[in-house]
Amino acid sequence: MNLSTVLLRWYDVGARDLPWRTRPSPYRTLVSEFMLQQTVVATVIPYFHSFVERFPDFAALARAGEQDVLGLWSGLGYYTRARNLHRAAVAVVEEHGGALPRDEATLVTLPGVGPYTAAAVAAIAFGAQTFALDGNAARVVARLFAVAEPIDGPAARLRLRARGQTLVPRLRAGDFAQAVMELGARVCVAGRPRCASCPVIAHCRAQATDRTDVIPVRRVRAPKKIVRVACIAVERAGKILLELRPAGSLLGGTWTLPAAEVDAGESEPAAARRALSALGLRRVGALRELGSVRHVFTHRDVTASAFQVKATGRPTGSSELRWVNGRDLVSLAVSSFTRKTLGLLRDAPVRAAS
Ligand code: ADE
Repeated sequence: MNLSTVLLRWYDVGARDLPWRTRPSPYRTLVSEFMLQQTVVATVIPYFHSFVERFPDFAALARAGEQDVLGLWSGLGYYTRARNLHRAAVAVVEEHGGALPRDEATLVTLPGVGPYTAAAVAAIAFGAQTFALDGNAARVVARLFAVAEPIDGPAARLRLRARGQTLVPRLRAGDFAQAVMELGARVCVAGRPRCASCPVIAHCRAQATDRTDVIPVRRVRAPKKIVRVACIAVERAGKILLELRPAGSLLGGTWTLPAAEVDAGESEPAAARRALSALGLRRVGALRELGSVRHVFTHRDVTASAFQVKATGRPTGSSELRWVNGRDLVSLAVSSFTRKTLGLLRDAPVRAAS
């Protein structure tokens, strides 16, 4: 039996019941694919439910304010995705009469839609006979064809995609795309794959040549930059001051504690004082160190120390600032990183640091 037939049978029996698979629609497919771009299924599910409940279709999403969209995305990470999804909904409404374009070439013109998402949406929502190559699918294809070159360059991705394309059945291309993803997520996993439960083991050249542990090959990655950051929690009348990160920067569009990167040879309290004076505020009393948290981003390994401070003066700065209390935080776009730093305010024993 050919590979797609075996894989689809396996998928029909064992596929997970995911919310974007039940009651599918082009809108739900697009939302789920944006969320799944850099996030695993289990994390996405609750976000997907609240998102489509609040914004049930393209028109509702296009009408929404960007901060409301980012608010629902809070904690999911990679916030550019949320801004792009919102802009894509606006484009669907304004430029495509409210209906998602069906072909990949047009889909890829929407904000945030790259070749992978365009192919996944064209296949899943419209049945196009196309192969969607994400990280999981790249690993699966590399193993099936025993590809010995690194899989992470753009040219290698094109070649993997071409190989994947040869496997796509004429019918049920969308289910096939999801079956490949499912295989990559649950069986053909990174590291040690579960070949004993693989439905397509008979088609796998890496397995046949005993190389599933060395394939896929990856290019050596540049190490993450180690960064220290000093955050300040300025409190006034039960509220603390948050800053809106500028679009295009790390965590752009989300609210964070005002902060300064600690320079080489500088101490954390000195950087905290710098962050405070950048806001035009004068300190009253000591800086109090609340502790530190570590957060690993794609390219940065950040250790953030938080300092509580009382200050006078009217804060000014190049970015937008807002005094918020715990209730306001629920509806603001706040990243997991910032939630961790805010957690220090609640939990930590306070130490004098200035
Ligand atoms: N990853 C990306 N798209 C997916 C989907 N539709 N189902 C499961 N995992 C995915």
